[in-house]
Amino acid sequence: MNGKEYTENNILKNEVEDDVVDPWNVVSKSETGVDYDKLLKRFGSSRIDSELLERFAIVTGKPNHHFLRRGIFFSHRDMNSILNNFESGKPFYLYTGRGPSSSSMHLGHLIPFIFCKWLQDVFNVPLIIQLTDDEKSLWKDIDIEEANKLAYENARDIIAVGFDVEKTFIFSDLEYIGQCPNFYKNMVRIQKCVTFNQVKGIFGFGDSDVIGKISFPAVQATPCLSTSFPHIFENKKIPCLIPCAIDQDPYFRMTRDVAPRIGFQKPALLHSVFFPALQGPKTKMSASDPNSTIFLNDTPKQLKNKINKHAFSGGRTTIEEHRQFGGNCDIDVSYQYLKFFLEDDEKLEQIRKDYSSGALLTGELKKILIETLTPILQQHQERRNKVTDQVLKQFMTPRKLNYNL
Ligand code: TRP
Repeated sequence: MNGKEYTENNILKNEVEDDVVDPWNVVSKSETGVDYDKLLKRFGSSRIDSELLERFAIVTGKPNHHFLRRGIFFSHRDMNSILNNFESGKPFYLYTGRGPSSSSMHLGHLIPFIFCKWLQDVFNVPLIIQLTDDEKSLWKDIDIEEANKLAYENARDIIAVGFDVEKTFIFSDLEYIGQCPNFYKNMVRIQKCVTFNQVKGIFGFGDSDVIGKISFPAVQATPCLSTSFPHIFENKKIPCLIPCAIDQDPYFRMTRDVAPRIGFQKPALLHSVFFPALQGPKTKMSASDPNSTIFLNDTPKQLKNKINKHAFSGGRTTIEEHRQFGGNCDIDVSYQYLKFFLEDDEKLEQIRKDYSSGALLTGELKKILIETLTPILQQHQERRNKVTDQVLKQFMTPRKLNYNL
């Protein structure tokens, strides 16, 4: 983000004292990372509390995903109304997206997609995935054709997560928007409702930002309106649920403001915390800094080296001190990653206890992480290799999905 001209009602105005969280930057001053309680208040979203978790499990009839149990998805908007509707037989659809800025995605990018896959399975609902190649070419030094190519590369990683082709539509903005008048009409309906002042306030755009950036929020908002996908929803207005990392919330605060004014229900949201960089929880993992990042196409050797070399440790400086005082799981990146990727609750709890007491050393913890992630990456790579051009095309062709609305 380069327009740093913050206005009175700017949601980012607290950034001097607080963490910086917007769609382009996540930086915390605290060693433990972003203060999510403060963020909930600042953004005005609701915590996913134990009551909601219970309802979730009742409505789906399945145990909650560990991302829910462990507070990785921790915040929501209107999830109760999605659950209430679902219980009374009213459908919804899932919408998420990805800005393709590198040819391989990284571990952090997987989080919303892993969660969407679970949601798609337990609710049996359609999923729409927007690839914002337009966004990346506007924000980064990537030309249009290159951005479009990256969208296809990323689609392969996304498909490898295991989505059901009968229930999933993946599209590139650069291609689909020109093919679908209903999408563009909805986009203009949204553009008509938001002023430059408002996007300045929400996103911090400045006078020297290109106009493509200024109108982009309408592009990310449009998939929240089901009529943007006539091949799937015909002309029906179906409620939308968006799982995403919480930095994307500004787009959807804007959308929630606009939707009722043009005759749609506000989209509901499930927000996740950020996936920490290898250097520590102060920043999130970012594709533009290879040392902070584990890519999905890293070899076992690269994975091992990156963790051993770069994963920030919450351990003590000497073994003696570590044995005596124990390590700090709140700042230890290896432990944090295990929270995302080690599904076994008991094992995770044992590791937490042992590391905190000093029984487990940093090298041993890193070894557990390497052993956990190696098969995950290898299996991902195997599945990605099986994504043929034909499969890719199938996912990305506008078509009817196998779902009765
Ligand atoms: N802007 C997002 C990114 O840079 C991509 C995106 C588009 C998205 N639509 C979304 C993310 C919906 C979450 C939900 O990655």
